[in-house]
Formats: sequence, structure tokens, C-alpha cells
Amino acid sequence: MRAKEEMSFHIRTYGCQMNERDSEAARALLERNGYRLEEEDAADVVIVNTCSVRDKAEEKARGKLGLLTATKRRRSGRVVGVIGCMAQRLGEALTEELPGLDFVLGPNRLSALPSAIEAARRGVGPVVDTGETRDAAEFMEGHAETGVSVFVNILLGCNRGCAYCVVPRVRGREWSRPAASVLREVEAVAARGAREIVLLGQSVMAYGRSNAVWENESPSPGGYREPFPRLLEAVAAVPGIARVRFTSGHPSGCTEELARAMAEIPAVCPHIHLPVQSGSDRVLARMGRGYNVEQYLAAVERLRCARPELAVTTDIIVGFPGETEEDFEATRGFMDAVGFDQAFIFKYSPRPDTPAFAWPDSVSAEEKARRNAVLLADQDRRNLASRRRLIGRAVDVLVEGPSLRNVRRWAGRTPVNHIVTFDQMNGIQPGDIVRVLVRRATAQSLHGEVSTAHHFGASSSAAEKGGTTA
Ligand code: 5AD
Ligand code: SF4
Repeated sequence: MRAKEEMSFHIRTYGCQMNERDSEAARALLERNGYRLEEEDAADVVIVNTCSVRDKAEEKARGKLGLLTATKRRRSGRVVGVIGCMAQRLGEALTEELPGLDFVLGPNRLSALPSAIEAARRGVGPVVDTGETRDAAEFMEGHAETGVSVFVNILLGCNRGCAYCVVPRVRGREWSRPAASVLREVEAVAARGAREIVLLGQSVMAYGRSNAVWENESPSPGGYREPFPRLLEAVAAVPGIARVRFTSGHPSGCTEELARAMAEIPAVCPHIHLPVQSGSDRVLARMGRGYNVEQYLAAVERLRCARPELAVTTDIIVGFPGETEEDFEATRGFMDAVGFDQAFIFKYSPRPDTPAFAWPDSVSAEEKARRNAVLLADQDRRNLASRRRLIGRAVDVLVEGPSLRNVRRWAGRTPVNHIVTFDQMNGIQPGDIVRVLVRRATAQSLHGEVSTAHHFGASSSAAEKGGTTA
């Protein structure tokens, strides 16, 4: 058996930002334990972090795991494991389906990775751990490479129980991390160059509602009493942090106090991802979303009053059981009325162990595809119109680095989360905030030139706080 110091690993991640963050923490843990990150083909240990949100996501992971377990025949000593939401949902059954699997760890049990790998190497197993006890703070705070923008999980699990959703089943009851642990993590990544923090949770503004998160009740400088605005304030105050975002939202979290925090804390970006799922009250009620369209609009208005430039993005499910043509048209009209800045459209996928699973999947695959295409085309038109309005205007861009599509161009994001590319100029570094004059716009991105006069170095986060937003 090879020494652990020589062992390499690779993590393949499917699913949401929370999963990406979990993979990052898992990587940090393995590196602390002497494992080395490697390309998938060459890695001794390959870990697949899976998603269960739609059937397609599980199918992808299944396909990948099938291929990986097959490689074990050629490579003795290779370890293949599965973590995340699908691991939690299927547990033991996955090891029966895929006999080569060495371990199956649920999303709250990732700190068991080193011991599961060790067990596999000793020939013990497969190890299945889908327990309820959550990973320790040390694991959650772990980061490997620190980029300009860093995800931080603040609220795990979900108590909402929407009829279509597998998340409460796989990620458990809602639990908020202690603020001290979150702030320790933010301070550590800020010291390593992070400039933007994206706070993550399934219903992120419910932070601190199910369990206490603040050790002391000393008043916040801004006089915030709700745990989430208090956390926004504290994160924004960490030296080096220029921007704070959070996702995903729920209308019940759009309180007056959150609106005040968004108005008063300049580092909090004027952007909210607020999944609406449907624009029909009938469908919303059947989904068990806990609001109707009027309440959703009121929540958006509350935040827009505080930050008029607010961009609202959303998720939509088409073809939910019983969704009629009329319901669908209501969603279309509603999306126009809100003027969503971006929308992710999903075709309903029945998930086992969810309330809606028992209901007839009444909308045909063809009709779901049609509704999906119609909403995508609508959103594309809206995107193009709103992005074109920015041509000739200046936007502040937090520079992330070379663009994925064209490395001669660099890319970053505006406060409302629009992607902007520009020609790299000497002296501009990832983490800088530059002012870019927008020259061209597509539905998904803006292109422009840096106006050097407004180049703010990484140390001058205050400069942006007075800057314009788009
Ligand atoms: N089918 C289709 N889409 C779903 N989502 C969640 N569950 C399902 C499902 N069963 C979508 C919702 C959610 C996003 C992350 O995925 O729109 O906001
Ligand atoms: Fe994320 Fe939900 Fe997929 Fe789990 S099931 S990875 S929480 S999107």
C-alpha cells in the first residue's frame, strides 16, 4: 500500500453552489490530511459530489460513477466514493447498485472522508454514513484556494417542505452556523485576498431563526435586531470585504429590517435571488410555497424601495402537477410584471419521498419542453433589453481574472451580478474594482473598456462604496 502522502484525489461536483462549497471544504480537509489534488484520470481517489434535485442530476452522477467504478478493474488500489445529496437519499442502495463503490457519505458527514478513504485502502467497506450529526466547525470553515469571490454556507438544511423538493429530505432540518464561526471563516478568507462573500443557505434570510447564532446580545452598530441583517453588517465590516451577496431568498425573509440593511450597508449588493417558482396563486398554493403573487410582489417592492437599482433573479418550475395553460400564462405575465433580471427555468421532475411524487405528473414531456422554451425566449428578450440599456454607461466591476471564453479578455461582475468582460490592461489584478464603460451587450454579458481614471486598487474598498451601481 502506498504512503498516504503520495495519495492524490479529485472531486467532481454536480449541483448547486452549496455543493461547490462543500467540495471546497472537502478538498481543504483532504489537503490538511496529506492528500494532493490531481486531475481525475490520474487521481488515486475520485469523489463524486452529487445532487438529487432533479432526476437528470442523479442520472448524470450515476453514469459518472458507473464509469469510475469500471476504472477500478484496470487500476488496483483506486478508491471511488460518492458524497452529497444523492448519497444521502440512496445510502446503502447505491452500494448495491454500484458494487465497486468504496464509500457513501451524506452532505453533513463529509468530515468522515479521511477515515472512509483509509477504510477503503484497508479493504474494509463499503462505508456508508448518512447520519444526522453535522460536520464540525473546523470542517465547515476550511478553504483550499481562495478566489476573489468566496461562498460561505451559513444555513444548512431546510424546514420549508415545498411539495416538489427533495432538499429537506437530503439536507435535514434547518440549522444556522454560529455567527462567530462564520465570521472567523470570512476573516480568514479576506486575509487571503477574498473581496466578495456570497452567503449561502436554502432560505438564507431565515438565518438564526431556528437556533441561536449570536453569543452576545450587544447591540449591532446599525441597531439591527434580526440575526440575518446583523450578520450582513458584521461580514461587510470585515477588512478587505468590498461586497456581500446572499442566496437563495424567500419572500418571508424580505423584512423591513433587511430592506434597511440593504439601504444602509453599501457593501451589500443590490441583487437578490428570490425563487418564485410560479406566477399562479393556485400552483403556489399546491406547491406549499407560503406566499401568493401579491405577497411576493410586496416583498420585492420593500427591497426596491430601499435599493431602487435592485436586480431580482428567480427560479421557475414549469409543468408542476396540475399546471394548466392558464397557470402557465399567469407565470409568463408575472415574470414580465416583476421584470426579472435573470431566470433559471426548470422542467418539473418528480422526486421520490416528496409530497408531489404521489400526484399525477400531468403535464407531458413535450408540453414541459414547450413551456420551458417559451419562458427562456421571454427571459432572453428581457435580458437583452435591460443589458442594452447599459450601453454607454459606466459600471463598477470586481475583477475576477481571465474570461473563460477568451483569455485575452478579463471578466468580473457588477454589483447587480452582471458579467462584464474587458481587455486586460497592465496593472489590473484580480480583486481590483475597475470602472468599465459598456460598449456592447448580449443577453448574458456586457463588454466594455476600462476607464483607468476610476481604477480602484484592492485596498480601497471604500472607493466602491461611493461608486455607481448598474
Ligand atoms: N423539479 C424541477 N425543478 C426543481 N427545483 C427544485 N426541485 C425541483 C423539481 N423536483 C428547482 C427549483 C429550485 C431550484 C434550485 O431547482 O426551481 O429553486
Ligand atoms: Fe444543491 Fe438541492 Fe442539488 Fe442538494 S439537491 S446539491 S441542495 S440543488
